[in-house]
Amino acid sequence: MKILAFGASNSANSINKKLATYATTFFDKEEIEIIDLNDFEMPLFSVDKEASLGYPPEAIQFTEMISKADLLILSMAEHNGTYTTAFKNIFDWASRIQPKTFQNKPMLLLATSPGVRGGKGVLEAAKTRFPFHAANILETFSLPEFNKNFDNKEGIIETSLRQQFLDIITSIKTNMAN
Ligand SMILES: Cc1cc2nc3c(=O)[nH]c(=O)nc-3n(C[C@H](O)[C@H](O)[C@H](O)COP(=O)(O)O)c2cc1C
Repeated sequence: MKILAFGASNSANSINKKLATYATTFFDKEEIEIIDLNDFEMPLFSVDKEASLGYPPEAIQFTEMISKADLLILSMAEHNGTYTTAFKNIFDWASRIQPKTFQNKPMLLLATSPGVRGGKGVLEAAKTRFPFHAANILETFSLPEFNKNFDNKEGIIETSLRQQFLDIITSIKTNMAN
């Protein structure tokens, strides 16, 4: 089972990349590819650039990486209640190459932020929108107050949130095994 994971952010110290990476630690190492959105920086999407430049190679690569994955783990960073510009740009380009952007791949959809809502706004936006792009969302999870509830070595340290997360991982594994 191949897993493609990323934080939907281009921050060098992305807490969402940390959460997505943490989720991958519950799966076999050789199956995991963690990408950084900085490696997928492209011109800001516009229909004019699309007409004049065509599809950027990074967008084609991103789409191909999804096609090769068996499970997608995305952790959504929230900027002003919704997607980061970095993610939205990749999403827009990729959706032009493949409107079924997530290609019916099973998805674990996460979000975290330093605030008490834990990125619930962007999580809700993604949960509502992604199925229109053939996302097969198996589970969602939001981690509030990242800096309080997450330790770089231990992962999620708050007991009930940790248990909730572990239950979700178990559910994903059961689903993937069937
Ligand atoms: C432009 C901007 C807007 C933000 N808006 C929100 C927001 O609406 N809700 C929220 O919980 N955090 C917001 N934040 C704080 C982010 O959650 C925080 O920067 C977090 O680290 C982003 O995730 P990342 O580290 O994975 O990039 C915002 C941060 C920036 C820079």
